[in-house]
Amino acid sequence: MSSINRRTFAAGTAAIAGTFLMSACGGGRGSTSEGSGDGASGFAADSVIGISLPWLGTQNWAEAQTLFETDLKKAGFSPLIQAADNKVAQQQQQIEAMVEQGAKVIVVGPIDGTQLGSALQSAHDAGVKVIGYDRLIENTKAVDAVVQFGSVRTGELQGQSLLDGLAERKGAGPHNIELFGGGPADPNAPNFFKGAMSVLQPKIDDGTLVVVSGETDFQQCATPDWDNGKAQARMDTLLSGNYSDKPIHGVLAPNDGIARAILTSAAGAGQEVPVVDGLDAETESVTSIWEGQQYSTVYKPTKDLVAKTLELIAAYQKGEEPAAPTEKVDNGSIEVPVYALDPVVVTKENAKEVFADDPDRLALLK
Ligand code: BGC
Repeated sequence: MSSINRRTFAAGTAAIAGTFLMSACGGGRGSTSEGSGDGASGFAADSVIGISLPWLGTQNWAEAQTLFETDLKKAGFSPLIQAADNKVAQQQQQIEAMVEQGAKVIVVGPIDGTQLGSALQSAHDAGVKVIGYDRLIENTKAVDAVVQFGSVRTGELQGQSLLDGLAERKGAGPHNIELFGGGPADPNAPNFFKGAMSVLQPKIDDGTLVVVSGETDFQQCATPDWDNGKAQARMDTLLSGNYSDKPIHGVLAPNDGIARAILTSAAGAGQEVPVVDGLDAETESVTSIWEGQQYSTVYKPTKDLVAKTLELIAAYQKGEEPAAPTEKVDNGSIEVPVYALDPVVVTKENAKEVFADDPDRLALLK
């Protein structure tokens, strides 16, 4: 209780400091939007835009950091970008500091979808627009929009790709498989798992797939903090406990880092390469796919998500209503406008086509 009170107090102080700071520099930064006649709800075209990333532990977040820096500058804004090393308190403080520094929009990839309510409420109270980036922000009214790739859809593609890979590489079955989920605090992780299970469960029920360990609940399969080392340790345990006398044919992996951890573990146990899907089209995994190891990944181009986020920021800057969202999602508190982009499965077969407009990834395919 006392820690909640302390947090509330700290957030309140930040909000007051932020309000003071904004009114103190209103004559300077505010002048552009006043001069352009865009109305009271817009803001200066060179305003500070805060970007709060959860960590830089997977390639997508590192790419977002670079792209936001260049694209926000190109659009005339002043980017203020921070990553929080997967520590919730650090992310809360970084958001509070962004408000104090006069950010007009704060874009947040939350570490824990449910733990930012008071920091974001203070931001909202100070007139800051809040955009959830790649992950939903839950249990708060203080969110204006979310941009992401469909998270249940991503899971469906992962599940389907695992099935396709098994049929292609491992014959008719039945197939022995294991299931992995992402970090349980990340609102994407249960959705990825749910989407995948919507495809896999019927095949488990009819006996085509056998989860030899019997671990099929998200909580049993989740990987705390999306930590590849923890996934590898779980895979080692699953293999030594259940597969000393049988092959493992496939594994559901929630992202590329975990996919590679699974492949490393399987090789260490002397197993033939199992069919493993992934997510993010990370450099090492694209190479692994090209070399016939990892079976697939799901590509969700960071440049498209950053571009969509910049569209929203540009609308807010002008004081305009952004384009209609793809859907509204109940975040436990309000119906949040969600702008959802479509992810794409990549295998060795279609990689050149999918990466035709991504020179860095295309260059890996040789
Ligand atoms: C993102 C993935 C990423 C994972 C771990 C998820 O929320 O959607 O792209 O691999 O977090 O960082």
